[in-house]
Amino acid sequence: MKQPHSNLLRLGINVDHVATLRNARGGSHPDPVSAAHMARLAGADGVTAHLREDRRHIRDDDIRRLKDEVALPLNFEMAATDEMRRIALALKPHAVCLVPERREERTTEGGLDVAGQLAQLTPLVHELVDAGIRVSMFVAADPRQLEASVAAGAPVVELHTGSYAEADETQAVELARLIEGARLAASLGLEVHAGHGLNYDNVGAIAAIPQLRELNIGHFLVGAALFEGLDASVRQMKALMRAAREQAAA
Ligand code: PXP
Repeated sequence: MKQPHSNLLRLGINVDHVATLRNARGGSHPDPVSAAHMARLAGADGVTAHLREDRRHIRDDDIRRLKDEVALPLNFEMAATDEMRRIALALKPHAVCLVPERREERTTEGGLDVAGQLAQLTPLVHELVDAGIRVSMFVAADPRQLEASVAAGAPVVELHTGSYAEADETQAVELARLIEGARLAASLGLEVHAGHGLNYDNVGAIAAIPQLRELNIGHFLVGAALFEGLDASVRQMKALMRAAREQAAA
């Protein structure tokens, strides 16, 4: 019998859109830090937040409080800019996920072009790793990008599941790409995470990919919380992840 590995898949809750709702009115409600506390009690294994250049949702003070006040490892998503580099080195979060960022986009639309920016990214990755931060590269499941992530010195990749989540008739193709990408990444010695656009309906096939160690999920969980509460949405997501792992391992 194969070993069950359901406990090896962590859920990182992305609280960006709690801050989006707060910022719609100003003030302090709803507080992304309170959401992170509640998600922890519901079983989330980590908290993720993206401090964007324009501070459209998460702000500097949120990141500091998420690090100082929440008893979960913080995954700090950031663009590879000098400003963010300085913030990360001062904050020293558990992890940094390097993401591409364009001012006009609504969300992080594509993976980071690590292969095309290897010379610029490598010193940054080394500096963050040397500071004791676990660095991941948010990339498409593309062999070139996975190999470049290794070359840059990153120990982790997060596979972008957006194309899979948004696909209609090509979903099987996108899933196959992710399965193959996870296999290749693990064979290159990378720890493999995944995220973007995951929800109750599409998480199972991703959670079943045996090499994955962490999923980062935000928008859907925060939206579902409006109807069922954050505690219930986190518990339900974890239950679906666990069931998919157990079924895949059986
Ligand atoms: N992982 C990364 C690197 C992201 O940029 C995002 C979106 O901010 C997510 C995961 C979460 O995506 P979603 O909000 O669609 O669940």
